[in-house]
Amino acid sequence: MESKSFKNRRWLRSIINFIVLYFNNCCVHGFRYLVQTMLVVFEKFLWFVLLFVSIYFCIIVCLSSIDRYYTKSTHIGLERNYHFWNTTLPSLTICPMERLDNTLFADYCRKNGIKGPEKAIFWDFLENLANSTYVNFQNIPQSDQIDQIIKDIGLKPEHYMEVIYNLTVDSTYTPSEVNRTRCVDGQTFIHVRQVLTEYGLCYLGNSRLGEKYSSRYLIFGKYPEFNKYEHERRLIQYLEGSFFEKDVQYTLMGFSSPALDSYIHSAFEVMKVDTNFGYTTDGVVYDPISKEITADDNLERQTTITMRKCRFYHESNLTHFPFYTRNVCMQECRINLAYRICKCIPHFYPNRIANPKPVCDYKTLRSCFPRHASFFLQLYEENGKHEKPETCYCEQNCRDSVVTTRAALPMLGSKQLLGSIGSTVSVKNWPQNRLKRQVIFSMTDLLVSIGGTAGLFLGFSVLGFVEVLYFFTIRLIWQTLGYRL
Ligand SMILES: *[C@@H]1O[C@H](CO)[C@@H](O)[C@H](O)[C@H]1NC(C)=O
Ligand SMILES: *[C@@H]1O[C@H](CO)[C@@H](O)[C@H](O)[C@H]1NC(C)=O
Ligand SMILES: *[C@@H]1O[C@H](CO)[C@@H](O)[C@H](O)[C@H]1NC(C)=O
Ligand SMILES: *[C@@H]1O[C@H](CO)[C@@H](O)[C@H](O)[C@H]1NC(C)=O
Repeated sequence: MESKSFKNRRWLRSIINFIVLYFNNCCVHGFRYLVQTMLVVFEKFLWFVLLFVSIYFCIIVCLSSIDRYYTKSTHIGLERNYHFWNTTLPSLTICPMERLDNTLFADYCRKNGIKGPEKAIFWDFLENLANSTYVNFQNIPQSDQIDQIIKDIGLKPEHYMEVIYNLTVDSTYTPSEVNRTRCVDGQTFIHVRQVLTEYGLCYLGNSRLGEKYSSRYLIFGKYPEFNKYEHERRLIQYLEGSFFEKDVQYTLMGFSSPALDSYIHSAFEVMKVDTNFGYTTDGVVYDPISKEITADDNLERQTTITMRKCRFYHESNLTHFPFYTRNVCMQECRINLAYRICKCIPHFYPNRIANPKPVCDYKTLRSCFPRHASFFLQLYEENGKHEKPETCYCEQNCRDSVVTTRAALPMLGSKQLLGSIGSTVSVKNWPQNRLKRQVIFSMTDLLVSIGGTAGLFLGFSVLGFVEVLYFFTIRLIWQTLGYRL
């Protein structure tokens, strides 16, 4: 009994001795005075309080540096050296108002045994379905004959978009140049592609988005086929201009449809279905100003999405879309909202996901959606049942531009001028400043800041930290083995 407590006491003494040894040798300055035998208790107490206060403030300042690193490490600065940069022209999305192709439709009817008057009824139905969006779902015809035809050919809602795609000609692949949908700047071609939008199949020119944003990829998961016609001349992906160029313009043309709906928007974005110019039977000439927001090269490497509060194109966390832009994120909000209110989603959304959501049949489109149209479009409704703004949070694009249109005029007689109707973007004025996302507090700054704080309050350093580790590992082992230094 006695020998045991004696043993314990010996142990305790050697532990205390070891800690005293550490305090005597340690790099943090105040500790030494706590264990010096020469000092009176009052002095020791004073040193203890000082040490405590220093450590406390050291921790507080370090925590505020860490908080700064995580929440305020980037900012948006203004650049004014407009002589040196190029600005990308805005994109143009054009939706032809007549969608389906006669020949393909006739083939489809022949294969599925649709004949006589049924054919006209079915054409009217499909054409309106292809031309439908939130504002005009009520225009889709409804009748018993349509139900009968759909039943006969076994057309399921999940296949609406595929059938529409199959019966639409991608006019960017038309061999004859006059009828081909193309985007031109003098003798240069600018890349055009067919895209899947909330207004069905449309054409997008002068975009900086990747090829994943194309109808074929979103519907079938395959990249668009190589377009040999585009490569007949010099081909660029998008057109840029600098401050010294007076008038830079391109034209998106070659539509056979007599009426068009065109949207002008940032080259880093997709179109928004509620901000169209309106239906025109002539082309439109836009005179926009596009102010860019760019990002430092090191922004993506040095910060995370939560730190910079913006996303790049390839940083998607969306379910239905394999890429990210702010408007696409809003579309996903709309998908979720439609699914909650109408229990199904419209056919024009990509649905190639692990658990596809049910697609609305045309009767649900007619009955459920028109009542909530403004709520779906704005995700907000003032004096309806849904007073609350819909809870939907979408981060900004890291690279983007703000397009303001100074003038948009119908291009009278464009058909005679261009051989087919189309729209022109013509930039006459360039912005004299632009915004830039920058990193102002990087990982290195954080290290320096914490190191500086620890040095200021405690005289602590990296080597001091290594010493702590050394003392309580290797040195401790030597000590317990009985070696003394
Ligand atoms: C701007 O465009 C011109 C002509 O295309 C090119 O020579 C120049 O390098 C570009 N400048 C920048 C900063 O990209
Ligand atoms: C497509 O929808 C728009 C908007 O409702 C309408 O103005 C246009 O006439 C429709 N096109 C056809 C071919 O019905
Ligand atoms: C659309 O066309 C593709 C390829 O030609 C075919 O595999 C698919 O079954 C068609 N879809 C429908 C719904 O007819
Ligand atoms: C994507 O991230 C944002 C915040 O970064 C979050 O609010 C949103 O719910 C995420 N979306 C999905 C589908 O996970």
